Amino acid sequence: MKRLPVVICMCLVFGALAFFPGIGMAAEEEINCVKCHRRVTPGHVTDWETSTHAEMGIDCSVCHGSEHQSAKNKHLAVMPDESVCGDCHYDQFEQFQAGKHNHGWKSLNAMPVTHLEPDALMEGGRGCGGCHNMGIKTEKEKEAIRATGNRYQNNSCDECHTRHTFAKSEAQDPRACQQCHMGYDHPQWEMWSSAKHGTRWFAKDQGRLPENATAPTCQECHLPEGTHTNRTAWGFFGVRLPMPDDKQWASDRATILKALGVLNPKTGEPTKRLEVIKELDMARLTEKDWQDERTKMIKTCAKCHSKSYGKTQLEAGDEMMQKADRLMAKAINIVAALYEDGILKKPAEYEFAYPDIMYFMRTNGKSMDNLSHIDQVLFQMFMKHRMRTYQGCFHVNPDYAYWYGWAMMTKDLGEIEELAHLLREAHKEKKE
Ligand code: HEC
Ligand code: HEC
Ligand code: HEC
Ligand code: HEC
Ligand code: HEC
Ligand code: HEC
Ligand code: HEC
Ligand code: HEC
Repeated sequence: MKRLPVVICMCLVFGALAFFPGIGMAAEEEINCVKCHRRVTPGHVTDWETSTHAEMGIDCSVCHGSEHQSAKNKHLAVMPDESVCGDCHYDQFEQFQAGKHNHGWKSLNAMPVTHLEPDALMEGGRGCGGCHNMGIKTEKEKEAIRATGNRYQNNSCDECHTRHTFAKSEAQDPRACQQCHMGYDHPQWEMWSSAKHGTRWFAKDQGRLPENATAPTCQECHLPEGTHTNRTAWGFFGVRLPMPDDKQWASDRATILKALGVLNPKTGEPTKRLEVIKELDMARLTEKDWQDERTKMIKTCAKCHSKSYGKTQLEAGDEMMQKADRLMAKAINIVAALYEDGILKKPAEYEFAYPDIMYFMRTNGKSMDNLSHIDQVLFQMFMKHRMRTYQGCFHVNPDYAYWYGWAMMTKDLGEIEELAHLLREAHKEKKE
């Protein structure tokens, strides 16, 4: 859709009001929306009244249409998607579209595990769907959601500037990122807020540091200069191309890519999942692509630190990624050998007789009564502890990097070695 500048949009809105009261929304209808909704949903009306939108005359029907006028026809109210916001805020819309956030819904649905989980955790906006609502949905995707009886979750802009205040200042607060960037596999909130960068921000927020003291927020590092395009060098899975020069690291990364189902464990050839990785930009696939993001980040650090300081700190993160990959590959190989020797059986859903991390905690497919604990320990080592090791380094958090990350990886490896030994002993006994 062609996007119009805000000014033209405003003219259209007010123009429609002034000359064509029959289309768009008539002043009287608008009073009705607010009048009735002051009773039906009083909180929404209060929020909207405090917004810049109310000040600019952008009322309920600009976003929701004016077909619905009573409780009987509430289904006629339009649930506005991002393109409605984009009609007036085209820069933010286009920047958002070019960034990683735009892939949230699609990457969720690309995971095999998603389709084994309850709908209420997806379309209902709890669990995975509560965070992965980030991303513009196609008409087809929206239809699929409506078919489950849910007509909400059509908009991602309201994930940082919540409705109906739609405030810029709310989105500038690092707490706007907290709901999603926390917890099990991506505790950036916990890491940032308990490290020096976050501590400084809170001290400043409480007036213990002067207004102009520096304290980098999530936004300053990841959405610099107000951009809505977000992307990092390593990304979430911490794998990339080309393979590193170091032979051991290259072999370890190949092992991890097999456990992610991206390389065929027998032939080493790419599988269908590599296409998904490419399409959803889940990893940087060229040296330049990776380096460009890294260079941008070093420039950001250099707003406060010396350039060489920032660079050295980030390289320490890369080094921990390499060390974490060594432990991870060892563990994957131990579990893979159990499949190879027939001690663990390939679940029906798996493509290969090989561990598949993309099944998350259901690492043994659908057969809930037959979960293999060793596979779950392997999953936890990858998704919880490897993540903490390198994310903790990049977010300058000593405890996450060491105790919650690296130390736990070494513990997982020990447990996997022990469990593999027990499984082999039990298997031998069964055969005798
Ligand atoms: C006579 C009262 C009345 C008027 C006038 C009215 N609404 Fe509503 N509206 C309701 C009621 C009642 C509901 C349903 C609330 C519920 O589900 O609990 C509703 C629901 C909605 C919903 C949510 C729909 C959903 O599926 O959850 C939106 C959005 C909405 N109204 C917007 C508007 C807009 C915009 C206007 C003016 C064009 C308007 N309303 C006029 C009474 C009214
Ligand atoms: C700038 C656009 C915009 C304006 C103006 C706006 N809304 Fe909304 N509204 C939204 C968005 C976005 C959603 C969420 C849609 C979704 O979840 O699919 C929403 C959802 C709703 C809902 C359903 C969800 C809920 O929390 O109950 C109601 C009811 C509603 N709006 C009422 C109103 C009323 C009443 C007004 C005027 C006072 C208004 N809206 C003005 C954008 C707007
Ligand atoms: C009809 C045009 C129009 C539509 C549709 C619209 N806006 Fe706005 N919005 C404006 C105007 C005008 C302003 C005030 C000038 C500005 O900041 O660009 C504004 C301001 C804002 C601001 C800044 C508020 C502040 O605190 O300074 C945000 C954030 C915002 N809109 C988000 C949204 C979102 C999200 C949607 C969709 C749900 C939306 N807008 C839909 C016209 C629109
Ligand atoms: C608490 C919010 C939250 C929940 C719940 C959640 N995710 Fe995520 N997910 C995120 C965030 C945030 C990221 C990006 C993390 C990062 O880059 O460090 C992410 C990343 C991902 C990625 C990687 C995307 C990429 O391109 O790198 C996949 C795949 C994924 N999640 C799938 C799921 C599935 C499947 C579920 C449910 C079983 C789930 N997520 C539950 C917030 C969540
Ligand atoms: C990941 C969080 C996030 C999401 C999602 C998001 N925004 Fe923003 N938005 C921000 C931040 C942060 C700012 C403040 C930027 C700054 O400091 O200048 C902002 C500012 C804005 C402004 C005010 C611009 C100005 O300088 O006056 C508008 C308008 C806006 N966003 C619209 C949108 C629209 C439209 C969408 C959906 C396509 C959207 N935003 C989605 C974080 C977000
Ligand atoms: C509603 C949940 C939600 C909120 C709020 C949110 N994010 Fe995200 N974020 C996600 C998801 C989901 C992904 C992964 C998207 C994908 O699948 O590609 C993500 C990805 C990212 C990435 C990309 C990491 C990579 O792979 O390179 C960055 C950076 C990021 N978010 C920063 C932020 C910042 C900064 C804020 C706050 C201003 C924020 N996010 C708010 C859900 C959220
Ligand atoms: C001082 C700058 C800085 C701040 C502040 C910051 N980050 Fe990061 N973030 C980084 C760096 C550096 C990386 C790793 C970039 C790379 O891959 O080279 C990163 C990576 C990420 C990633 C990708 C996965 C990962 O963790 O490596 C996400 C998502 C993310 N940050 C979200 C956040 C959120 C949310 C906040 C606030 C709670 C935040 N960041 C605060 C610098 C920062
Ligand atoms: C907006 C300013 C700002 C930006 C941008 C920034 N920092 Fe910082 N950083 C600080 C401040 C202030 C401190 C606390 C100073 C101190 O420890 O005395 C700090 C502390 C640190 C520390 C801990 C130092 C120590 O002695 O414990 C590291 C490591 C660090 N930053 C790395 C980075 C990296 C890497 C980046 C870029 C990804 C970055 N910073 C971006 C302001 C910033």
